[in-house]
Amino acid sequence: MTLIAQITDLHLKPRGLACYRVSETNMLAERAVAALNALDPRPDAVIVTGDIADQGDPREYIVAREVLSGLQIPFLMISGNHDDSAFLKEAFPDAPGFDQGPPDRTRYVAQIGALRLVALDSSVPGAGYGKLGEDQCAWLDEALSAAPEIPTIVALHHPPIRMGIHHMDAINLHDGDRFAEIIGRHQQVERIVCGHDHRGIVGTCGGKVVVIAPSVGHQVVLGLKENAPAQFNFEPPAYYLHHWTRETGLITHTAYVEKADGPYPFWAGEGVSWPGY
Ligand SMILES: [Fe+2]
Ligand SMILES: [Fe+2]
Repeated sequence: MTLIAQITDLHLKPRGLACYRVSETNMLAERAVAALNALDPRPDAVIVTGDIADQGDPREYIVAREVLSGLQIPFLMISGNHDDSAFLKEAFPDAPGFDQGPPDRTRYVAQIGALRLVALDSSVPGAGYGKLGEDQCAWLDEALSAAPEIPTIVALHHPPIRMGIHHMDAINLHDGDRFAEIIGRHQQVERIVCGHDHRGIVGTCGGKVVVIAPSVGHQVVLGLKENAPAQFNFEPPAYYLHHWTRETGLITHTAYVEKADGPYPFWAGEGVSWPGY
């Protein structure tokens, strides 16, 4: 069994500042770290799929070090559009995979239990949208060709699909068709995992399932009308748990940071039971 947690879109700020005036992202990220540390069984690793900082500010990466060093689980990171990949790699020189690739790109391969992680850097300096570029697409193809037998997760911040939230679709992965063409040729890819949209969303790309994780901070409002405004809200912060066994393949669970009411037993001593609850 291999268990990988995925958190995303922390949008950390310099100490004392809220994100977008009202989102206390530093505190919310600390709560997510506490929730992950309390998991039993404990994940083999945590993947942080970008927008770790809010403005790619070195002060925000100092906060990122403080917050993420609280994790009692090994963690791996990739950049989002709010990150500066060079500052991120400088702030975490010992992070798994950060010794690979150029100093300003978070792209690497890592082994986590039975799974292989191929991590991509879809950030484009100064832009909200994402793009891999031909160099990185060629690298992805090579990286996947190198281990066709090992079940693989591909991680990138920007979703390679359109989800119907138009203001977010405008800043998705702009070379998603090229990405899909590569992914479609590699049977061992079990999941594509993304962030960026601050909502839990599922789609397909190159014949594989794509999951977009909710943020551990604020969420993007679900607006499917053509002219839906870009807004955020405080729907419950959440994360994914990717659970793999040879028998089941990769199963992705949604888990919430905050405790909910309960648990309650389905039956509590009434002396009756019902098959299947
Ligand atoms: Fe984000
Ligand atoms: Fe983003």
